[in-house]
Amino acid sequence: MAPRHQAPRGTRDLLPGEIERWQRVEELARGVVERYGYREIRTPIFEDYELFARTSGESSDVVQKEMYRFQDLGERDLALRPEGTAGVCRAYLEHGMAGHGRIHRLWYMGPMFRYGRPQKGRFRQFWQIGAEVIGTEAPGADVEIIALFVDLFATWGMPDLTVAVNSVGTPESRRTYGRLLVDWLGPVRDKLSPDSQRRLETNPLRVLDTKDPDEQALLQSEGWLASGAMPRMIDVLDDDSRKHFDAVLAGLTQLGIPHEIDHGLVRGLDYYTRTAFEVHDRSLGAQSALGGGGRYDGLIEALGGPSTPGVGFSTGLDRTVMVLEERKLAAGASKPAIYVAAMDGTRNEALMLVRQLRRRFTIDVDLEVRGLSAQMKAAGKSGAAWLLLLGEEEWKKGEAVLRDLGSGEQRTIARDRIEDELGTRTEFTATRGNA
Ligand code: HAM
Repeated sequence: MAPRHQAPRGTRDLLPGEIERWQRVEELARGVVERYGYREIRTPIFEDYELFARTSGESSDVVQKEMYRFQDLGERDLALRPEGTAGVCRAYLEHGMAGHGRIHRLWYMGPMFRYGRPQKGRFRQFWQIGAEVIGTEAPGADVEIIALFVDLFATWGMPDLTVAVNSVGTPESRRTYGRLLVDWLGPVRDKLSPDSQRRLETNPLRVLDTKDPDEQALLQSEGWLASGAMPRMIDVLDDDSRKHFDAVLAGLTQLGIPHEIDHGLVRGLDYYTRTAFEVHDRSLGAQSALGGGGRYDGLIEALGGPSTPGVGFSTGLDRTVMVLEERKLAAGASKPAIYVAAMDGTRNEALMLVRQLRRRFTIDVDLEVRGLSAQMKAAGKSGAAWLLLLGEEEWKKGEAVLRDLGSGEQRTIARDRIEDELGTRTEFTATRGNA
């Protein structure tokens, strides 16, 4: 019979077997951000709709087409968060964090929601890990954020990604650039998709952010942008933004972080100023971005706070885990280190012993009071490296049998030495048994 309910379209369950890969990815990420001195922040999964509309931009796809917007029973206008930066900045202001230090380095991890078309690596509920530096406009902060971003991927076993960078300047330089784009693209507008033709009127820079592969080719590789024929953002930057961009590029070069300027990189959210960047794995095709970010010097002010610069990134974990899985790079399922099998006369002692051993080791044990042969079979299936057999005769003599399930070799050990013996034998396989 078909089940009555399925996970909603664009969402999925992460089951044992897959979840270990996620845990590994999360654990490694946590290590990196903490070594960089970033502190975790957790904000609500839903916020006032207005917060996102104001920051991501009314004309952005995220707000126009992808928001999970709803009214609660108190008729509040709310939305599931499509991204993390707006919530972090709202919390920064709400808790007066500026009064507790000038520069805050923050990170977060959790589910985000966008009503997009589900496709490979793209979901309606997806996970992001992100980091933000709030309180300085120094280019060094941009460089640190990009270095952290790259180191995160390197820790996950993906050292060879491309970092694409651009500067989107100030709102004024963007307006100037928008006018230049309209002038330039106007005469060739019939070569553009209907979506882009519309964008040319509402928000011309968004034409550059097209997801249509043919259009991307037209703008990028074949060349309007690459050939220099089409106006480029970098040519209309104000002096300060240009200096800032040069300092960021120099910082990346100094740290040996491979990067390329992508003149078409404008990002899909409206809050960016100056630096914008993305990390791509080109083998993923059109949806190759594994993460992105940039500077948002006007965002906190737009939320009613004092002018406060910020820069950050976030990266989708779903695609990262998928890529790692395809490349067999992440940890597999965790296995118990030891299976404890008992007989009728030792069952109660076995339960006490298992509880004690579980403080240190990963142990599997029968829950169903089954006979010894069923337990032996289960031990084999469990993937445990060792079997600890509490036979009635041995137990009476103060002994137990320890069998190496790989080689089949076994020996008798003293009851009061069980923990020490297991300790020396499992130290190389680690307690999770999947090192
Ligand atoms: P974003 O580019 O909108 O930026 O999203 C960042 C990453 O989230 C994407 O590169 C992608 O890996 C992942 N992502 C986005 N949508 C989906 C989806 N539907 N399914 C799976 N993964 C997805 C931001 O969200 C900004 N808050 C980044 C930032 C932080 N800028 C400054 N600070």
